[in-house]
Amino acid sequence: MEKRTVLDARLRAAASLVRQGAFFADIGTDHAYLPLFLVENGRVERALAADINEGPVAAARTHIAQRGLSDKIEVRRADGLSGMESLGLTDIAICGMGGELIRDILAAAPFVKDGAIRLILQPMSRAEVLRRYLAAEGFAVKEERRTRDGDKIYTCMAAEYTGTPYTLSLLEATLGLLDRGDPLLLADAERKRTAARRRMAGKAQGYQNTDAEQTLLAELSALLEEL
Ligand SMILES: C[S@@+](CC[C@H](N)C(=O)[O-])C[C@H]1O[C@@H](n2cnc3c(N)ncnc32)[C@H](O)[C@@H]1O
Repeated sequence: MEKRTVLDARLRAAASLVRQGAFFADIGTDHAYLPLFLVENGRVERALAADINEGPVAAARTHIAQRGLSDKIEVRRADGLSGMESLGLTDIAICGMGGELIRDILAAAPFVKDGAIRLILQPMSRAEVLRRYLAAEGFAVKEERRTRDGDKIYTCMAAEYTGTPYTLSLLEATLGLLDRGDPLLLADAERKRTAARRRMAGKAQGYQNTDAEQTLLAELSALLEEL
């Protein structure tokens, strides 16, 4: 058997949010690194590795077979969570996709509105769209972990359905949980400020309304002063 799967910091953060003993599914699994890591390290007994595209499905099958884990990790070709409503999944990861696509996958799978299911979500972009969706639909974000890879900061969140919708400020939608003890919060807030300034300049050039950017910039500056 090959040596154990090694994850980068982004996927390690996702793995750390999966609960011990979960029945785990990785949606958009690509090479199946996440389920392999979780099974190899005894975090979960069995898992589902799913992807919409044939190439990643084939890569997942190959990797899992090479490690002798085909009896523990099932591979499926599926669009999002389709066909998985009655499997009894407890922890579901959707990582490495845009926030809008993650939202669309969740919206198409009402069975995830179940307090027993934990969602592990790692948007690569438009995280604010995903956070607003979670808030409006009554999913509480229990934990959020930031990681850095070179110049990039990634965020991964664990969300669970409570059925109680809530609203987010612009700052909360943009930055997520504001854990002052997180050493990466400062760098994340600085990057978001740079991005908001760029957006505002672009909009101002096109004579568009920049109220939202101005509010966000004021909130980010106040937070950065505090940190
Ligand atoms: C950039 S890869 C991310 C792989 C891995 N989850 C990670 O975070 O490193 C995105 C994967 O999502 C898959 N994907 C895109 N849309 C999907 C959908 N609607 N349902 C399932 N998988 C999807 C793609 O085929 C691709 O393998």
